[in-house]
Amino acid sequence: MAFVTAPLLEFENVGLSFKGVNALTDMSFTMTAGELFAVIGPNGAGKTSAFNCLNGVYKPQRGDIRWKGDSILGMRPDKVAELGIARTFQNIELFAHMTVLQNITLGRHIRTNVGWLAGAVWYGKAKREEMANREKVEEIIDLLEIEAWRSYPVGLLPYGIQKRVELGRALAMEPELLLLDEPVAGMNLEETEDMARFILDIREELGIAMILVEHDMGLVMDIADRILVLDFGQVIGEGTPLEVQNNPNVIKAYLGEELTA
Ligand SMILES: Nc1ncnc2c1ncn2[C@@H]1O[C@H](COP(=O)(O)OP(=O)(O)OP(=O)(O)O)[C@@H](O)[C@H]1O
Ligand SMILES: [Mg+2]
Repeated sequence: MAFVTAPLLEFENVGLSFKGVNALTDMSFTMTAGELFAVIGPNGAGKTSAFNCLNGVYKPQRGDIRWKGDSILGMRPDKVAELGIARTFQNIELFAHMTVLQNITLGRHIRTNVGWLAGAVWYGKAKREEMANREKVEEIIDLLEIEAWRSYPVGLLPYGIQKRVELGRALAMEPELLLLDEPVAGMNLEETEDMARFILDIREELGIAMILVEHDMGLVMDIADRILVLDFGQVIGEGTPLEVQNNPNVIKAYLGEELTA
């Protein structure tokens, strides 16, 4: 018998509604490890809601969400994060008065197994863990090229750098899947190109799978392996960037908007 591995992530007929209004209807897709998957769709299509279902902020009324074959429906957000699913937010959620270093180090919290008491008793283990934390944080600061800002309070930094720090904090959790909700929204061309490069580096160097939600079609068509298209909470297309660009349903939903890279 062939050995069959479960997909990394499965959405099966996920349905979510608010007071009878459907935000997601029968949303289904499958992702494999290391994949760069994009979810696109007009405003209000349900993209952020899908993230919220996945990381336990919303509980869908219908369907199932499986991580490596096991249902994670109804799991608390912190438990989902512990499984290895991290996210960044549509609106930056950092601690503005804390430094870049402190904000990124916060992401390590979830990976630290030594409680304060154990830490006091097994000093050696705590120390080893602290060293490992520092090493990881330095690796991230390096990868995202934010060395120059490491000691600045995040609130004082340009928007594009803040978005990078938020990405760094998610990476500090050493996720297997990273959810990026509009990582280049509000960025200029140069900042967008930098972010595209970092996203590709994360996949190449760290092998982390990602779901990218983005309105910047140029970016999505350029870097995504596969794209899922939502409209009014329903999947209206799925495929490679080329397939999606030539899908009549998708073209219709985006009528008047530029779909090509
Ligand atoms: N907590 C909530 N209460 C009520 N309705 C909600 C809630 N969250 C989302 N919705 C509704 O669900 C639908 C999908 O919203 P969602 O934020 O997921 O869209 P989106 O695709 O992320 O849009 P955008 O591109 O503008 O970020 C919208 O009609 C929205 O008003
Ligand atoms: Mg959104």
